[in-house]
Amino acid sequence: MDQYVIKGGIPLRGEVSISGAKNSALGIIAATALLDEPVTITNVPEIRDIEVLLRAMEGIGARIDRKDAHTVRINAKGVSPLALDNEYLRKIRGSYYLIGALLGRFKKAQVVLPGGCDIGPRPIDQHIKGFEKLGAVVEIKHGMVMAEAKALCGNHIYLDMASVGATINIMLAAVLAEGQTIIENTAKEPHVVDVANFLNSMGANIKGAGTDVIRITGVDKLHSTTYSIIPDQIEAGTFMIAAAATKGDVVIKNVIPKHLEAITAKLVEIGVGVEELDDAVRVYSNERCGNTHIKTLPYPGFPTDMQAQMVALLVLSNGTSVITEGIFENRFKYVDELIRMGASIKVEGNTAVVDGVEGLTGAMLSASDLRAGAALVIAGLTAEGITTVENIEFIERGYERFEDKIGKLGGIIKKMDSEDERALRKFRLKVC
Ligand code: EPZ
Repeated sequence: MDQYVIKGGIPLRGEVSISGAKNSALGIIAATALLDEPVTITNVPEIRDIEVLLRAMEGIGARIDRKDAHTVRINAKGVSPLALDNEYLRKIRGSYYLIGALLGRFKKAQVVLPGGCDIGPRPIDQHIKGFEKLGAVVEIKHGMVMAEAKALCGNHIYLDMASVGATINIMLAAVLAEGQTIIENTAKEPHVVDVANFLNSMGANIKGAGTDVIRITGVDKLHSTTYSIIPDQIEAGTFMIAAAATKGDVVIKNVIPKHLEAITAKLVEIGVGVEELDDAVRVYSNERCGNTHIKTLPYPGFPTDMQAQMVALLVLSNGTSVITEGIFENRFKYVDELIRMGASIKVEGNTAVVDGVEGLTGAMLSASDLRAGAALVIAGLTAEGITTVENIEFIERGYERFEDKIGKLGGIIKKMDSEDERALRKFRLKVC
């Protein structure tokens, strides 16, 4: 298994360019299954989850042509609605978007239940409620979701919570349905809007994406398109926090500043310098940050996917901070790892109380999920001495060339085989 080996204490300085948004790309790539013509998608992030979904789509009959590392041409003409129990589909959460897309196109879908990060139970009851309101019969049998409809007819759907996945999945099932579908209490994340814009570029009729109510008027047919994915707001936020935590000065390029407003506001509140440019943000700090209170909320609130990274910054703040996880039930598993580095954190239920300490010391750590892994890397970059982070396959699911981008900012980080003691000794000798 691979691990990251990090030598902390170096302020990150320079420029980093953000890749395409993972959570947009998953929905958009799955949405190409709605069409029997080729579609070209650019600014696709080169990350494991995307590779897995592309392989899964090939497995159900799509033709995938990689034009370059970030451009893919997908022709779903030969796709079957029966996505049999495919080893790839079980690995990622985004695979469930194939249910909505295949149901929308074929009025039938059979897809294995999704996987995804272990941050709490990941039910799909709201997805199923939406499919049923459109006229589908949905069963879960033998670990598969089986959906079928004589016809899909527009309806009025009210989500119990602003679910990103359910909002996107119901859109996919509704774009070719007869009549109008209204979805209320929808998620407003940038990646929801990106998927809606992609569908509209194929001839769908979706209005209101990015608000609490999305109106979809079914169309008879979709057509080919070329579409570029928006920058990843969470990758951008991760580098913003890494710049602040290491007391560096970094220009994060290829971003949409509006998508980062909740993160920017919080960093400014605790004394970090943030300068917004047209398609970049500059983040700089040369002192300990202040403390704060955070509750993670659906967009435009503070993103749950930035909670762990923010705690990795606040463990070195002046004073006490309180972080409440408002979305998932089990998203503080990384806290024990930060405590091994000398952090002072108490978790009670879905709230963490963080007392800022003078500094962290390097330790051997283990990533439990994608964003927690990124937070441990940030902590390692601030710590005195050497930190190792294992299970980095979680991180590679959502961060393109993470160690390269950090290295180009002056951070000392190397990917190594966990078993390679000799390489680890050599690294220690070289950097210590
Ligand atoms: C998406 O997950 C993202 N994943 C997550 O990002 C992100 O944390 C999450 O949205 C919230 O922003 C992808 O887009 C692939 P939800 P999703 O449906 O769609 C409950 C990352 O790090 N819920 O908005 O699964 C659910 O349990 C990943 O990139 C139901 O109860 O999130 C959760 O408590 C981690 N029933 C809340 O709603 C449902 O049918 C929000 O979930 C659906 C969701």
